[in-house]
Amino acid sequence: RILARRADVRDLGAVRAALDEGVAELGGRLDIVCANAGIISQPVATWEIDLDQWRELIDVTLTGVFVTIKAAVPHMIAAGNGGSITLTSSGAALISGGGFADYKAAKSGVLSLTRTLACELAEHFIRVNAICPTAVDTPMIQNETLYRSFRPDLPNPGREDVKAGFQTMNLLPIPWVDVADVSNAIVWLASDAARYITGVTLPVDAGNQHK
Ligand SMILES: NC(=O)c1ccc[n+]([C@@H]2O[C@H](COP(=O)([O-])OP(=O)(O)OC[C@H]3O[C@@H](n4cnc5c(N)ncnc54)[C@H](O)[C@@H]3O)[C@@H](O)[C@H]2O)c1
Repeated sequence: RILARRADVRDLGAVRAALDEGVAELGGRLDIVCANAGIISQPVATWEIDLDQWRELIDVTLTGVFVTIKAAVPHMIAAGNGGSITLTSSGAALISGGGFADYKAAKSGVLSLTRTLACELAEHFIRVNAICPTAVDTPMIQNETLYRSFRPDLPNPGREDVKAGFQTMNLLPIPWVDVADVSNAIVWLASDAARYITGVTLPVDAGNQHK
């Protein structure tokens, strides 16, 4: 069964209400948490990032993860049977290069949260890990703005026009990974097959960090 609710990750009250309802409805415990919501920015120089946009990105992409943790962890500790938390960071937090400073700062913050929580929650057998995907085939990268930043030479660039550019970022000869490649990693981290894995940063990145 599934209980789906829409909530803004910046809104602790709304996230808490959704979680509390789910826990009450589905047996009184919480075992697995994935904090995945995030937004991306524009590839502009750091000092040209608009302050309000900086604040919004950090609010959704970093503080939203903290809010999820704040709402979820008490349920997990109360249930007393351990669990798995996976936070979505990004390959962008592992590589150097100009641009996207706000996004990289948020995703680096997610890695710090992961390690801190892994230490704090180990005694409860709650494992906390981060995944760092390279480009994933979702609307976050498949959009006109990003197409235009990759191919400013074309009047109307599309998906096919940016494949080669994306591919140069990865070691394996692919432009991006599929959503299932990321969710498979999260399912594995949540499973008993990963029962002694905590505090790790798991790249799902086609070798992107070594390029
Ligand atoms: N697509 C990529 O190339 C890529 C690479 C590395 C990491 N990531 C990360 O993966 C995660 C998922 O991204 P995606 O690729 O599916 O992007 P997406 O833009 O397709 O989806 C983002 C999701 O976040 C939700 N969201 C945005 N703001 C929210 C808010 N304030 N409250 C609640 N939900 C909100 C959206 O509704 C949407 O479901 C993000 O954290 C992203 O940073 C994506």
